Amino acid sequence: MSAEATLAVDDLTVTLDRGDRDIELIRHVGFEVRPGEIVTLVGESGSGKSVTSRAIMGLIQMNHNISVTGSIVYEGQQLVGQPQTSAKLRGTELAMVFQEPLSSLDPVFPIEDQMREGLRRAFGKSSKEAERARMKELLDEVGIRDTDRVLRAFPHQLSGGMCQRVMIASALSSSPKLLIADEPTTALDVTIQAQILDLIDRLRQENDMSVLLVTHDMGVAADLADRIVVMYAGRVVEDASPDDVFTSPHHPYTEGLLACIPSLHERKEILPAIPGSVPDPSGLPGGCAFHPRCAFASDRCRGEDPPLFRIDRGAAACWHPRNTAVEPALEGARA
Ligand SMILES: Nc1ncnc2c1ncn2[C@@H]1O[C@H](COP(=O)(O)OP(=O)(O)OP(=O)(O)O)[C@@H](O)[C@H]1O
Ligand SMILES: [Mg+2]
Repeated sequence: MSAEATLAVDDLTVTLDRGDRDIELIRHVGFEVRPGEIVTLVGESGSGKSVTSRAIMGLIQMNHNISVTGSIVYEGQQLVGQPQTSAKLRGTELAMVFQEPLSSLDPVFPIEDQMREGLRRAFGKSSKEAERARMKELLDEVGIRDTDRVLRAFPHQLSGGMCQRVMIASALSSSPKLLIADEPTTALDVTIQAQILDLIDRLRQENDMSVLLVTHDMGVAADLADRIVVMYAGRVVEDASPDDVFTSPHHPYTEGLLACIPSLHERKEILPAIPGSVPDPSGLPGGCAFHPRCAFASDRCRGEDPPLFRIDRGAAACWHPRNTAVEPALEGARA
């Protein structure tokens, strides 16, 4: 772990106790986000991106049937097992845009009240006029023009895309040091999507804001990310710079994700899209969880889950890494 990381996640595991057995939703996840950096978490549906994000925000409450173990260090402060520290940071230094915007807006209050509460939480009370002016400015930044109507509206009176923009404006209202954005632009059309991603990019440059951006979209990751962390079946399978991911992906799963980008697929330099889907955490195959979908699986892959090897400038969890002359060696393993 480097001293300067804004966020350092290590060995993060979320376990569900189903009575008869434990089910690991995410397994030994580790990565870092440095100041002003955008790190993207990519992977298919069910790979564990949202569980990881919620765990970092302290939103997975440990109780008798769910446990969070490992380490989440934000600016030198350990957050695992520290719900009060997490609660203090949420909405001030840490902000999250949720994948389901409607479920995170309160249906019984107009948008203005909800945004005002966020502003006051971060900056204390100010005059209503000043707060309103700031809210309008924030809404304008996410491409909302009829700001008066939106501020007066209740969430159910707004479209899904509009709610998503309101959530983004609210998350940015506290000028967070770390923004976690879980598929922030899925309900938006492409022009607004580009505008929001530009805004996030600008804010990280102007304010040194660090960003953990969850996306299905390797194209978005390529455009914005400083690092790409690829998740599969609840664990990190590759961690590298976008340049390295695109020119020499080491994990066959990463290669498969790249094949889903039409412009790359047409070049026919890489594998076609991967068959099948992410296994459910309650029924992971033995060995490497990707082996049933992998064209290169060997007996070793079927029998032993590979650790995350350091390979070249990145890391990959594969016994037979692609596009490298380096043989994976356990000494180089990170987890
Ligand atoms: N509270 C829970 N109880 C049981 N299983 C859960 C719970 N939350 C998530 N899961 C399971 O954990 C796995 C990872 O879920 P997660 O929501 O993190 O996936 P994701 O990568 O965000 O997918 P998507 O791209 O569809 O949003 C899934 O198999 C999901 O069904
Ligand atoms: Mg999700």
